[in-house]
Amino acid sequence: LGNEEQILRGRVLSFDGNPAVDAANIRYFEDGLIHLKDGLVVAVGEASTLLPAISQGLRVTDHRPHLIMAGFVDPHLHMPQTQVIGSYGTELMEWLSRYTFPEESRYADKTVCDTAAGFLLDQLAANGTTTAAAYCTSHPQSAESLFEESGKRGLRMVAGKVMMDRNAPAGLLDTPQRAYDESKALIQRFNGLDRLTYAITPRFAPTSTEAQLEVAGVLAREHPDLPIQTHLSESLAEIDFVKDLFGWSRDYLDVYERYGLVRRGALFGHCIHLTMRERETLAQLQGSAIFCPTSNLFLGSGLFDRAGLQASGVITGIATDIGGGTSYSMLVTAAEGYKVLALRGERMTAFEAFYWMSAGNAYAMALDERIGRIAPGYEADLVVLDLAATPAMRHRMERAESLADQLFALLIMGDDRAVVATYAMGRKIYDRKGTATLPPR
Ligand code: GUN
Ligand code: ZN
Repeated sequence: LGNEEQILRGRVLSFDGNPAVDAANIRYFEDGLIHLKDGLVVAVGEASTLLPAISQGLRVTDHRPHLIMAGFVDPHLHMPQTQVIGSYGTELMEWLSRYTFPEESRYADKTVCDTAAGFLLDQLAANGTTTAAAYCTSHPQSAESLFEESGKRGLRMVAGKVMMDRNAPAGLLDTPQRAYDESKALIQRFNGLDRLTYAITPRFAPTSTEAQLEVAGVLAREHPDLPIQTHLSESLAEIDFVKDLFGWSRDYLDVYERYGLVRRGALFGHCIHLTMRERETLAQLQGSAIFCPTSNLFLGSGLFDRAGLQASGVITGIATDIGGGTSYSMLVTAAEGYKVLALRGERMTAFEAFYWMSAGNAYAMALDERIGRIAPGYEADLVVLDLAATPAMRHRMERAESLADQLFALLIMGDDRAVVATYAMGRKIYDRKGTATLPPR
């Protein structure tokens, strides 16, 4: 891919695992070097030990005093909702019918899809996010656009065409057969191409008939390694609706269970109001519960119970949920997540938050062997962060005494202004100074 062998220098932070479980999972190098080759990390360590061995002739990009971390991972967002963000005054079900479905109807037009996909990926890069799990619309061309634009940028992206065949405007509805055929064609064309992965994407139980959920289950069985993404237990009105539509179900998760849609790598957005049975089953079947704090606050959906889910052994992630969510920034998202947990009397350290945004989300997406860490063999998706990006941050940092203090202030005060540069497979795809060049791949 034309990736030169090179070295990045800066403060380097990575996590081998959850720092809340074992503080030894924190990898921090105050004057760190990252040796990159062919888009992968070859070595990482302190400059004093690493530099003499590898400096011969290699280009060194010096990012000191900035902090280099693994690129952020966003395990739940909607590509066609970039122009829905900040729509006034409603809760989930009304927000969908009043704002979101009409907007998604525009994506029958491929040029609308292309523009939105490019815009979204540029925003993600400017926010240090290098991998996302994205819902497109029910139009297959929306997924085509996102895959094409992601391929151009060399990004590891997970996306799928939404399957929905009832309870929405006619222009957004497919049928079980069309959903199968269109998903299948997209899988064959894009899954495994470049760094792209197809996600089987039934929107949520209320917009699929049983016949369509059946088809989603067939796709899942035919492709046992593919991720699945859907919504679960976001609002109380939604849960009541599911109860009416699927009279036989024990609870909301049971609907997805029945069709074989709960497994490792299946991403369930929101998971706010789960029963104990649902939690235990989600844990047993290794599905991931994805916390979307800015969305949950904005739509008034409720407060994610991280402690309860983790106590049941459920895998969790944290995501923007653009455009029910209100920020593209994983820093802002995790800061809002901290506040949601605070309302529940729970605490989250900065180390936990930064772990969650990177290696934790990679684990929730079952991508933890490729991305989310700066370690030998990992893909070199990186974000460079400026802890003194604004006068207010610079001023605050004067009184931050430890790394933990600095990171926590960065978490709470930071946003896209703190992102100095973003790399995908060792290739710079964003530069705050506007000098990012996209060399031919
Ligand atoms: N449930 C079904 N579709 C959506 C969506 O687009 N956004 C959110 N937040 N919840 C959903
Ligand atoms: Zn969503």
